[in-house]
Amino acid sequence: MEPDYISVNRASWNRRTAVHLESSFYDQQSFLAGRSSLNEIELPLLGDLRGQRVLHLQCHFGQDTISLARLGAAPTGVDLSDAAIDAARAAADATGADARFLCCDLYDLPAHLDESFDVVFSSYGTIGWLPDLERWAALIARYLKPGGRFVFAEFHPVVWMFDDALETVGYRYFNSGPIVETESGTYAERGADMELSYVCWNHGLAEVITSLLDAGLELRTLREYDYAPYNCLRNMVEEEPGRFRVAHLGNKIPLVYALEAVSKRI
Ligand SMILES: C[S@@+](CC[C@H](N)C(=O)[O-])C[C@H]1O[C@@H](n2cnc3c(N)ncnc32)[C@H](O)[C@@H]1O
Repeated sequence: MEPDYISVNRASWNRRTAVHLESSFYDQQSFLAGRSSLNEIELPLLGDLRGQRVLHLQCHFGQDTISLARLGAAPTGVDLSDAAIDAARAAADATGADARFLCCDLYDLPAHLDESFDVVFSSYGTIGWLPDLERWAALIARYLKPGGRFVFAEFHPVVWMFDDALETVGYRYFNSGPIVETESGTYAERGADMELSYVCWNHGLAEVITSLLDAGLELRTLREYDYAPYNCLRNMVEEEPGRFRVAHLGNKIPLVYALEAVSKRI
């Protein structure tokens, strides 16, 4: 039987949020003081956002959403975790950012939001929490206005083939159903004293791209990177500022991909 992944994952993201808010990884203090959390990979794809309505899927506690507002966009962030959305709203209040936040399962969004957007954005650690990319892509297509753009940056599916230490291949590249696990600590605070249970899925590149094409989007850009902008996997080294690679793998594997796709609706 399919595990109740919504309850399991909401509970684990609520617990992570409290730790992430205090972590040097997310450095909430410098963020509130004005630092942008967006990276060199997604910024050129996002382009000039002044006056653009942006839907930000799986926004966690809103750092990227508020960073989008600081670039002149009118963003709406959506996330499953009520703790994350509470923190996102508090950060928007504290910074005076013009950002709106909704708390729900992504697939339930149409029950909460009936608008269209110039840009839909999602990044780093998102689709692994979703079982069905056809529904994900249909949702993106539904919220894009005609000619609207989807901008996506994500960890490469090759990364998720490896065990936690990135030493052995322990998982299939392809989606083979739910992966149910428990880990101690969290990527932003490895030593945190907590056990987290979660349910996730691997999604290969063809699965991602085919679902977007089938939903009526046109792929404009697809890029792969041999570094990640975050020190979030085990044994990473920052070889150039803001570019992290896994020490013993060097530049041999892709760590991130990014794409831009456009709604063909007229
Ligand atoms: C790694 S974080 C988002 C990444 C963002 N780049 C960051 O680091 O702030 C993943 C987010 O997905 C959210 N999430 C997981 N499953 C979800 C679902 N079914 N619907 C909406 N959000 C979900 C979690 O609550 C979490 O905040």
